[in-house]
Amino acid sequence: MKIINTHSHLNMLKNTPIEEAIANLKKNDITAIIPSSTGEDIFEVDKFIQKDDCLYGYVGVFPEEAKTFTDKTLSNMENIICNNAKIIGIGEVGLDYYWDKTFKDLQKEIFIKQIEFANQMNLPLNIHCREAYGDTLEILDKYNKNSTAIMHCFSGSLEFAKECIKRGIYISIGGVVTFKNAIKLKEVASNIPIEYLLLETDDPYLTPVPFRGKENQPAYVTYVASEIANLRQTTFEDICTQTTKNTKRIFPILN
Ligand code: NI
Repeated sequence: MKIINTHSHLNMLKNTPIEEAIANLKKNDITAIIPSSTGEDIFEVDKFIQKDDCLYGYVGVFPEEAKTFTDKTLSNMENIICNNAKIIGIGEVGLDYYWDKTFKDLQKEIFIKQIEFANQMNLPLNIHCREAYGDTLEILDKYNKNSTAIMHCFSGSLEFAKECIKRGIYISIGGVVTFKNAIKLKEVASNIPIEYLLLETDDPYLTPVPFRGKENQPAYVTYVASEIANLRQTTFEDICTQTTKNTKRIFPILN
């Protein structure tokens, strides 16, 4: 059963040997896409994904790292994209007002630059959006012309999910959906059209049940798929088939 994990920081695992985590991916026929976070680790992701055929990457600067974005960042990204066919999107990029609200304007500026760059390169966007729902959609409405967008680690309401889907934005769900108290996310996972659903782990964070308290890893995406299958009263195979089909629609190279 082929599964695609659309957001894994496999390169950031600390307690699990990387080779073991990759072996676990291959055992379960899982492909993982790895984002970068800073203007510097775009180079690391570029190199890291050469470790195995099942790994792909995004390049982008995370909102909290907006200060690492320099004049050279976009040309560095362009070089990497042109020389590595396994870099298949721009991410993770977006807005995060949860940790720090002191540089909202800079976050917006860097987000917009990366949207325009994704449009120019004709690549999808992997979007981080935390407590910035209104601003994120407003900026996408205004600046995103032709890139398919994915809301990574979706944390909004069903109503916000519907607003996204209206715009053709995909909803990627991670391990939080397995938490008992994640009522809102379970509601989203149960009710959105299956054509817009994607799977991820955002490891090493947000470890799904039954491994909470331990380090997350990309192969645990199977627990996310199982939980969503339960919620939607369908089979694990159905969720994997549908989400893989959706992901391949966004990233034809994965076909
Ligand atoms: Ni992430």
